[in-house]
Amino acid sequence: MMTDRLRHIPVMLDRTLELLDPALRVEGAVLVDATLGLGGHAEAALERHPGLTLVGLDRDTDALAKAGARLAPFGDRVHLVHTVYSGVREALDGLGIDRATAVLFDLGVSSMQLDEAERGFAYAQDAPLDMRMDRTTGITAATILAEYPEAELRRIFYAYGEEKLAPRYARSIVQARAEHPLERSSQLVQLIIDATPRAVQRAGHPAKRVFQALRIEVNAELAALEAALPAALDALAVGGRIVVLAYQSLEDRIVKRELAARSRSTAPAGLPIELPEHRPEFSLLVRGAEQADEAERARNPRAIPVRLRAAERLRDAA
Ligand SMILES: C[S@@+](CC[C@H](N)C(=O)[O-])C[C@H]1O[C@@H](n2cnc3c(N)ncnc32)[C@H](O)[C@@H]1O
Repeated sequence: MMTDRLRHIPVMLDRTLELLDPALRVEGAVLVDATLGLGGHAEAALERHPGLTLVGLDRDTDALAKAGARLAPFGDRVHLVHTVYSGVREALDGLGIDRATAVLFDLGVSSMQLDEAERGFAYAQDAPLDMRMDRTTGITAATILAEYPEAELRRIFYAYGEEKLAPRYARSIVQARAEHPLERSSQLVQLIIDATPRAVQRAGHPAKRVFQALRIEVNAELAALEAALPAALDALAVGGRIVVLAYQSLEDRIVKRELAARSRSTAPAGLPIELPEHRPEFSLLVRGAEQADEAERARNPRAIPVRLRAAERLRDAA
């Protein structure tokens, strides 16, 4: 049997570390890995940079336990914090750290979470409809399916799944739950298959977008990201760098918007010279979003949808 470590291949590892490199090699370097997962990116950064301190965040206690064991050889260079990543400022304060020199977000679920059938993330495996990344708190996908009004279900399928058949699926769920509760992923998958007209051509599995939408709703993923990015950017020292890996367009849009807003001059139009306080706070390190190369995409299917964005802090906020 493969170990977690072999099964999990960190996405765009070399490119990520290349972009963060100047911020990882400075004196007193601190990397905040906001999505520690199994610690693949973190371990490589710690190996390559002997002076680096790591602050690893994850909302999943299983991930923290596994990553903790993996990173134990690095001793007191590693600090792990159980938190939603929007708590990055509080996590640093708790450790007495003022600024980070580097930040990494590798968004979404980990391969471990997908592989652990009982967590209910995967439509390909039958399991209870849980989908919480943090199983110590919050509501499950089954509760959402049981309790949300039809209009709310429709809204989340549209908004978080970009699902064109949202009304049809929401209606089928409400009809089905009047008969019996929807508790297992196989029930939901079958319901979606039954509710999909034969003539409709779907890219990928018909249940993919509904599962994505439920996962985003259960974990309030977009709200957490919208709060976490500004907090993480604020925590970066001048010269510090951030890399974000996003796997779906809703998250990538939030990242693109936030990095662009902070990398723009705020000088009023028509001002002949740019005053220091109007200079952009950040500079983008890659044009648009980078994707994984062909070889990595062929080797690791998780790398196929990835979009990488990166920026460097030029100055403190005015
Ligand atoms: C794709 S994995 C990271 C994999 C990691 N880079 C590695 O090499 O092993 C994403 C991790 O982020 C965590 N996560 C997702 N959203 C989070 C949030 N809002 N706050 C904290 N952790 C989150 C998940 O629990 C998961 O373990």
